[in-house]
Amino acid sequence: MRIILVGLQILAEHICLNPSVVSELECRQMTSSQSSMLRTKEIPKHCLHQSHQGIGLILLRRWFSGGVCKSKARLDGKTVIITGANTGIGKETAKNLAQRGARVILACRDLEKASKAADEIRKDSGNGNVLVQKLDLASLQSVRSFVDRITETETHLDILINNAGIMWCPKWKTEDGFEMQFGVNHLGHFLLTNLLLDLLKKSAPSRIVTVASLAHSRGKIHFDDINLDNFYDSAVGYSQSKLANVLFTRELAKKLKGTGVTANCLHPGLIMTDLGRHFMSTPVIWLTVLLTPITALTFKNRWQGAQTTIHCAVAEELDNVSGQYFSDCAVKDAAPQGRDDEAAKRLWELSVTMVGLDESERQKLHVPKS
Ligand SMILES: NC(=O)c1ccc[n+]([C@@H]2O[C@H](COP(=O)([O-])OP(=O)(O)OC[C@H]3O[C@@H](n4cnc5c(N)ncnc54)[C@H](OP(=O)(O)O)[C@@H]3O)[C@@H](O)[C@H]2O)c1
Repeated sequence: MRIILVGLQILAEHICLNPSVVSELECRQMTSSQSSMLRTKEIPKHCLHQSHQGIGLILLRRWFSGGVCKSKARLDGKTVIITGANTGIGKETAKNLAQRGARVILACRDLEKASKAADEIRKDSGNGNVLVQKLDLASLQSVRSFVDRITETETHLDILINNAGIMWCPKWKTEDGFEMQFGVNHLGHFLLTNLLLDLLKKSAPSRIVTVASLAHSRGKIHFDDINLDNFYDSAVGYSQSKLANVLFTRELAKKLKGTGVTANCLHPGLIMTDLGRHFMSTPVIWLTVLLTPITALTFKNRWQGAQTTIHCAVAEELDNVSGQYFSDCAVKDAAPQGRDDEAAKRLWELSVTMVGLDESERQKLHVPKS
């Protein structure tokens, strides 16, 4: 009991958002000089109040940190591709899967950053089988060259993780003239997945995991202005692209029924990563100061943020689960617009045209009806 009280007191000191200096000093003093005498009734009321605040904050913090992948599955002999794995939750996911023994291919646009990340992952995981391949999702040509290299070097592909993403950028276009967020987050991954389907089917049971976002619930597919040429709003563009991730997964899972390849998507949580890099190009000090305590309490760290992706990639109980949306390592309902089968079909056809899949590439998805 005494240890718990002292522990709570120390934690309360650390995380109380607005403790008075005097109370804090008194509490500190107690932990050092009177700790041996601590019993509930001996703790001054204000310190106990702080402890209660502390417990509340700890519970809240734990709640915000979300689910944890409990699977101990090994991936020896398996090959994984992760897009955007040089930083953020992609890198954390890559490290975890390397620790499980997989051959991990980091598919990244910046080879220098990616090589540095690969070195770190090899060192931390003790797995030397971590490779880097150039992939710029903002270029259809780059996606095609990447797949050519993969099909030359890899005999199988067990897990494809569509993780890379860009958020709230200015009105930028991809090399092929698509709105950047739709182009990178959706179209690049759409083409990549379609071109890798033969390899994935050949390696079945295999999995496709797409990192979407809760932002899909604010999204709409602007079929009449898909590149947002008439009215550009970066948040609208991001939500559209993340809704596209959810609808893509839904339609893909249907098309892959009976192939042994599953397709799921997920919301990883709110995580402190580089994703907000376009939000404030010049940091505003007062906003940073204001947001820091809030983000410290409510945001996941990268390890926590990678858990749902890892769960979808390895959990044994998901062998036959497909077409689902996950959050905190559990199946959740996507927003109504993410469950719209008509829109999913329409988006699929539009995407086929936009990325220029030819007839033979479209046939990769042809599954004879049983
Ligand atoms: N962080 C969150 O709170 C949060 C919440 C919901 C969903 N998500 C989703 O989680 C995924 C990972 O994001 P994160 O938070 O880990 O962000 P991050 O740290 O910014 O990582 C994003 C990764 O995507 C890569 N990328 C961006 N544009 C690319 C392109 N054209 N071609 C290839 N790779 C490209 C980046 O490469 P560079 O380093 O070279 O730019 C980076 O490796 C994203 O899909 C994001 O939408 C994140």
